[in-house]
Amino acid sequence: MSQPAAIAPDLAQRLAEHLAAEGGQISFADYMSLVLYDPQGGYYASRDRQIGPQGDFITSPHLGPDFAELLAEQVAECWDRLGCPDPFQIVEMGAGQGQMAADLLRHLKGAYPDCWRVTQYQIVEISPALAALQQARLAAAAAATDRVVWTHWDSISPGSIVGCCLSNELVDALPVHRVIWQAGQLQEIYVTSEAGQLVDRVGPLSSDRLASYFDEIGIDWAAGHYPEGYSTEVNLAALDWLATVADRLGRGYLITIDYGYEADRFYHPSRSGGTLQCYTNHAHHNDPYWQPGQQDLTAHVDFTALERWGDRLGLTTLGFTRQSLFLMALGLGDRLMALSGGAGLARPDDVHHIFQRRDTLHRLIDPSGLGNFGVLIQAKGLTDAERETPLTGLSTPAGW
Ligand SMILES: C[S@@+](CC[C@H](N)C(=O)[O-])C[C@H]1O[C@@H](n2cnc3c(N)ncnc32)[C@H](O)[C@@H]1O
Repeated sequence: MSQPAAIAPDLAQRLAEHLAAEGGQISFADYMSLVLYDPQGGYYASRDRQIGPQGDFITSPHLGPDFAELLAEQVAECWDRLGCPDPFQIVEMGAGQGQMAADLLRHLKGAYPDCWRVTQYQIVEISPALAALQQARLAAAAAATDRVVWTHWDSISPGSIVGCCLSNELVDALPVHRVIWQAGQLQEIYVTSEAGQLVDRVGPLSSDRLASYFDEIGIDWAAGHYPEGYSTEVNLAALDWLATVADRLGRGYLITIDYGYEADRFYHPSRSGGTLQCYTNHAHHNDPYWQPGQQDLTAHVDFTALERWGDRLGLTTLGFTRQSLFLMALGLGDRLMALSGGAGLARPDDVHHIFQRRDTLHRLIDPSGLGNFGVLIQAKGLTDAERETPLTGLSTPAGW
């Protein structure tokens, strides 16, 4: 991508101040945090239409209500497994434009009214612009009236959540550190400014946590597998987030949906440039210094790390599957079958509608796209019997 970047003056100023305060270089995680979440000029803080056909990228809830409805099926089953608690808390983290919340609540209300009656839906959202958009969307959604509150982790007491914590594409949006294998050692890629351009600068690791991260997930840099210049990412913020969720969850489930791999694939020696991606107008590239604050930056999720740290934090892994299998197990196949049978074909333009819906359902399970997303379900405070009874979303879909 070409430089230099158009950067909002406020954001440029804060970046310059931050660089000066840190002696001329900052970690990539600090840079990512600033350009995505700075309250004035950050990508998520100052723009509210990033997601959807007119935005920079699309997420599953924006393809139509099916994703959220099928997830609601899983959530309702979780409520049942927990013995139908009243209240039942659903905590959505990183709710984007509020589409998933609106569709999930509407489905619960229609299909599981007993569960819906006791549901308290809490949203933890870092971006004030998006929280405002969520409030507007949910105020217009009748099913959500009086059901949803916006909150912060500080307002939720330890062990107080009985229910389900959910996120879709939150963890990939958390700031990552970048590391590089160079001259026989693991080093870190920092951000600095040279002649008015933002550039990489390699230096010693900024935190011992970066080296111990790899010990924990069983990646041995010294074993000779990694080529000179191999670079990748480490999401320490995901571990901090997981620790917070584990602390607040008393009894229930954590469902994390995102793109990513288990550690041996994430850190495979052939993935020599890492997984960092930059999105703008539905195109992606890998120049994180292009138009800071105007593009999304994301990195894939290391699901092994979430499982290993989860274990330590008292979160038992119930299962890890792919979105395609998860949604099929929860009934996406039945929806496709119903369409094949011509259900709802009353007028000629219904044919167009049916083709569109079929396309949407296929996109949700496309193995080269959204269907390949990971779904990790962890739990805390369950009895042995509750833990051992498989959840539908983790079971093998009928006919597979
Ligand atoms: C890629 S968007 C996904 C939005 C939505 N879940 C969807 O699937 O359409 C990431 C979301 O996470 C939010 N976010 C990022 N970091 C967060 C944090 N630490 N706490 C809460 N929300 C966060 C962003 O503001 C945004 O709403």
